[in-house]
Amino acid sequence: MPVEISRVEGRDAETFLRDHEREALKTLFNFSVVWHEQRHDFAALDGKDVVGIATVRIAASLAHVEQVIVLPERRLAGAGRLLLERAAEVANYYNCHKMSALVPHHSSAQQFLERCGYKEEAVLPQHTFKLDVAAMRKFLL
Ligand SMILES: CC(C)(COP(=O)(O)OP(=O)(O)OC[C@H]1O[C@@H](n2cnc3c(N)ncnc32)[C@H](O)[C@@H]1OP(=O)(O)O)[C@@H](O)C(=O)NCCC(=O)NCCS
Repeated sequence: MPVEISRVEGRDAETFLRDHEREALKTLFNFSVVWHEQRHDFAALDGKDVVGIATVRIAASLAHVEQVIVLPERRLAGAGRLLLERAAEVANYYNCHKMSALVPHHSSAQQFLERCGYKEEAVLPQHTFKLDVAAMRKFLL
């Protein structure tokens, strides 16, 4: 029977997902999956001043670095590395086997990640803003 596709309110999608996601994940991964997603934010502080932030999303034993931002005037003084190290400690605590991040290929962000022990895993052609993007990773275990 043909179906018609229409936009729905977030709540309608959430209800459907709540009822059907478990079966769908089991079919997708071929084992029973409990999908638990959490987000952790870290701040680099100088006294009460926030000089940098890192945000990490943890799910399926993978810790994805969503953001690392250090104030321009506070860069190259170790704050970014410390933020990633703290994020890795928490990821380890939650039994993540791997950290990941997506950055523009050959960018200064990629160099920063490489200095912090990340390796280029793949290049996604014409990805964000149609730019090549490097998938970076660091194994934890
Ligand atoms: C990338 C960023 C987070 C780095 O923060 P930072 O506090 O300056 O980094 P650190 O001082 O901890 O540097 C850690 C290592 O990376 C290197 N590094 C940092 N920035 C670099 C850059 N722009 N180019 C090349 N290497 C860099 C440092 O030299 C250092 O290496 P070393 O210890 O071996 O000498 C910061 O420049 C920033 O906020 N940039 C804008 C947002 C961004 O690109 N975020 C990255 C997303 S992953």
